[in-house]
Amino acid sequence: MISIDEMVAFCRRKGFVFPSSELYGGIAGIYDYGPLGVELKNNIKKEWWKNHVQERDEITGIDGAIISHQKIWEASGHLSGFSDVILECKKCKNRVRGDHFIEDKLKISADGMKSNEINNLVKEKKLKCPNCSGEFNEASNFNLMFPVNVGVGTGLTAYLRGETAQLIFADFKEVMNSARLKLPFGIAQVGKAFRNEIAPRNFLFRLREFEQMEIEYFVKPGDNKCPFIDEVLNHKINIYSSEMQSKNQKAEKMSMKEALSKKIIKNEWHAFWLAHEHMFLISIGANPDNFRIRQHKKEELAHYSSDCWDLEYNFPFGFKEIQGIADRQAYDLTQHINHSKQDLSIFDEESKTKLVPHVVAEPSMGVDRAFLLIMFDAYTYDKERENVVLKLHPKLAPIKVAVLPLVNKLNEDAKKIHDELKKEFNCYFDTSGSIGRRYARQDEMGTPICVTVDFDSLKDKDCTLRDRDSTKQIRVPLKDLNMTIWKLLSGKINFLDAGKLL
Ligand code: GLY
Repeated sequence: MISIDEMVAFCRRKGFVFPSSELYGGIAGIYDYGPLGVELKNNIKKEWWKNHVQERDEITGIDGAIISHQKIWEASGHLSGFSDVILECKKCKNRVRGDHFIEDKLKISADGMKSNEINNLVKEKKLKCPNCSGEFNEASNFNLMFPVNVGVGTGLTAYLRGETAQLIFADFKEVMNSARLKLPFGIAQVGKAFRNEIAPRNFLFRLREFEQMEIEYFVKPGDNKCPFIDEVLNHKINIYSSEMQSKNQKAEKMSMKEALSKKIIKNEWHAFWLAHEHMFLISIGANPDNFRIRQHKKEELAHYSSDCWDLEYNFPFGFKEIQGIADRQAYDLTQHINHSKQDLSIFDEESKTKLVPHVVAEPSMGVDRAFLLIMFDAYTYDKERENVVLKLHPKLAPIKVAVLPLVNKLNEDAKKIHDELKKEFNCYFDTSGSIGRRYARQDEMGTPICVTVDFDSLKDKDCTLRDRDSTKQIRVPLKDLNMTIWKLLSGKINFLDAGKLL
């Protein structure tokens, strides 16, 4: 796997991602997606929505506002508890995020460490400012929410949402009634969230402005039987429980069936969502072996969560969270009931009582993190070709087909083919450079299929299709081109079966 710096350079060179506002010096942790990046990112979100909302009967979606009422964040606990520990140097005023600093310096896990523990370690290990070796002030908490002023002289402070989840809770009753949902059900949302990170780092991994794909999955209190569990029982994944971590054991590959029967994962819903999310990422091209699921240790649990498992990916900077599956129970709805004085409970036909549903799982995935892992798994340097081949799944590839006239004299005829194809697929028309150079350009953009138009195409009414991953070429009649490309992109046919091999 290439380093994170090489990935940053590649993303920039090909127009996937670059620093935002760079004309004026940029802002750490805020990036813009370029022409290829926006396509790839949209495709990831589109596939997620299809898989998690449109293909499921019991999940529906919303698109909540980004600017949200202060009281939402008071109720959720974000204004009082959503903070990181900050260490400030007495001398040069350099500020570092306490847990990251401890992890880097002492090579121990410090996720979720409280300020007093960090203070104790700083004193005990005589840790100093990495910038000037000065002493630190006492560690303090730094809230991650971004306030915004709304209107003129209204005195109303609102907040950029710190997670999309709270809009799901605030809209809960409205959505449930209008969509006529019955437990168990999920409400999904894809959208931006904002956190004023002390030290954004690792490119798209830890951002101040980022995007989430989240589901809040509601069940009756105490329900841990998932009706969909059979879909995932045989699915295997590396499992790293909190017990394995405290005993310094290694993660163990096992099926969900085994993990449940050994009570490593206690709740069927967790097993279902962990496996489902792993399977989803595999279905869009991720390498299954680069993942593990890790249970949060007690001290790591967020203020709202009683159990949490992360699906982690093995980045060049270590295993990191792609997705948290937290058991939030009735925490959020109860908070909103208490703060808003509205009744958000539902009537349970079975027990003929009112109940506040529990959130048994919160499959919450960072879009930017998914983007980054997909790029790492797709990036391949081909020594023979002497260029990068970005082996993106066809569903995600920003450009599906490139149309390449062999020589300039064929530009007009090839353009006609391109104009037809672009009605169906995101296409690229390229006339500049040798055909080899143009293939290499498409390899680096991740384009699965190139269509080459030559003089024989005019005569025989056919063209050459070139496969990105194998470089094999087949001849296909022009009249079948659209259908053949559709079959290839959707995996309905193998490349070598789609035409005459050259
Ligand atoms: N809603 C979970 C998260 O923001 O991480």
